[in-house]
Amino acid sequence: MSKNFYITTPIYYPSGRPHMGHAYSSIVADIFARFKRLEGYNVLFLTGTDEHGQKIQKEAEKNNKDPKIFCDDISETFRNLTKTLTLSNNDFIRTTESRHLKSVNEIWNRLINSGDIYLDKYSGWYSVSDEAYYDVEEIEENNGIKVSKTSGSTVEWVEEESYFFRLSEFQKRLLDHYKKNEDFILPKSRKNEVIKFVEKGLKDLSISRTSFSWGIPVPENKKHVIYVWLDALTNYLSALNFPNTKDEKYKSFWPADVHVIGKDILRFHAVYWPAFLLAAKLPLPKRIFGHGWILSDDKKMSKSLGNILDPIEVIKDYGIDQLRYYLIKEVSLGNDGSISMQNLKNCINNDLANNYGNLCQRVFAFIKKNCNNKIPKKIDLNDRDIKLIKNLKDEIPQLIEYINKQNLNEYIKTVINFSFEANKYFNDSEPWALKEKDPDRMCGILNTIVEQIKNISILLNPVLPISTKKVLNTINISDKDILIDNIRKNNNLNCDIELKRLDILFKKIENDN
Ligand code: ME8
Ligand code: MG
Repeated sequence: MSKNFYITTPIYYPSGRPHMGHAYSSIVADIFARFKRLEGYNVLFLTGTDEHGQKIQKEAEKNNKDPKIFCDDISETFRNLTKTLTLSNNDFIRTTESRHLKSVNEIWNRLINSGDIYLDKYSGWYSVSDEAYYDVEEIEENNGIKVSKTSGSTVEWVEEESYFFRLSEFQKRLLDHYKKNEDFILPKSRKNEVIKFVEKGLKDLSISRTSFSWGIPVPENKKHVIYVWLDALTNYLSALNFPNTKDEKYKSFWPADVHVIGKDILRFHAVYWPAFLLAAKLPLPKRIFGHGWILSDDKKMSKSLGNILDPIEVIKDYGIDQLRYYLIKEVSLGNDGSISMQNLKNCINNDLANNYGNLCQRVFAFIKKNCNNKIPKKIDLNDRDIKLIKNLKDEIPQLIEYINKQNLNEYIKTVINFSFEANKYFNDSEPWALKEKDPDRMCGILNTIVEQIKNISILLNPVLPISTKKVLNTINISDKDILIDNIRKNNNLNCDIELKRLDILFKKIENDN
């Protein structure tokens, strides 16, 4: 049986430098991708940049640059960010690549052939910043300027010839799909929001523009460029060598398992995208997961308050694993969440330095000092040792379920709690008092705690890829054995080789204010 898993991030606009919000989406998706690999899945994890449209053209003009050259530059900073964030993406797509052009043309032609496109005239409100059309009831006036109620971005009046997609025809089929596929849109609150929007009635959607040129031309009418969202969404297929539906990649990975996105682009993914796919007679993705916002309230964000969080800066100062852990532990995925320097520091100290890091370091130091630096054999076990390990193993199905429902917060809370318990177990068991009195018992305790460190490290690996690898390599577990199955097995610690050296995992952060 082939176990394939396809996960994507939004492709980001290279209109400005990457910020914490982009980092957040990418880290979230990376954690799911890594977990599925630990489960033995063949994972395709895609990210990239969305380079066409009026927003990019305008930004390039502002910078006096040719749009393609402008995109080359900023797209590269997003590609670099994937490295800084230690993303495990296997592909990075740019919508200016020829593989994407082919795929968008095919989608366009399919929509033409199904009779779902017609030529007419658009007149209405458009936000260049959101690349979105808004109805009158979706805009409001703010200091004399018309803005979108949801995003707050300025809208302008547009009147031009345009091709339209018969979105109105898909209302019933979309609603049926949401009903039949409970988890198509998660979390639930997002799903309800989408259903309400679709139930109000769908209007046909303008899918081409004529007032600028930076985009993919409409095949049969070069005056028009294809609406950037129809272009952008198709990236998820382009990476699979669509339109070649006989291609191994396409056959293995479509439909996608989950598109991870922010709630700002829910409508495009949960309404337009499935409608386009239905019209093109292609299977729909299995899930759209819309996470909440990382809040960065302007007023509250100031150097003096010390709460500005630029991902690159934070990583430089505190480390990538630390940032990944903090974002996942502190922000409830699906809801909006505030982040702050103070919370980041507390989180690093409490959960990483004092808890998981300290556990590994003190146990390995003890083994080095008292056991010739080799993991003692499992000699004398008692009920508490057995229970410690069993509790974690018994939790695996639940942990897998958390991941499959994108419930990252429960996942991480459960796992870090095992680490707190392991520390407590080590304290209570007092192996240091047994060196002479009962060495066999001491060995039992140490073997147990190392096994538990191994198990916890495997479970933390998707979140803390760098530190957990160091820990697992210390006990001679190689990268290819970092698998959930390795937790299920018993007695597979290598007690014959010395432990490798482990440097400080997480530096404690001093409070400077
Ligand atoms: O919308 N908190 O690109 P984009 C959390 N090109 N996530 C945030 C965030 C924040 N404060 N700010 C941004 C586009 N994000 C389109 C997507 S997909 C076919 C095309 C994340 O550069 C979040 O995932 O504006 C959001 O959906 C995405 O960045 C928007 O990135
Ligand atoms: Mg945006």
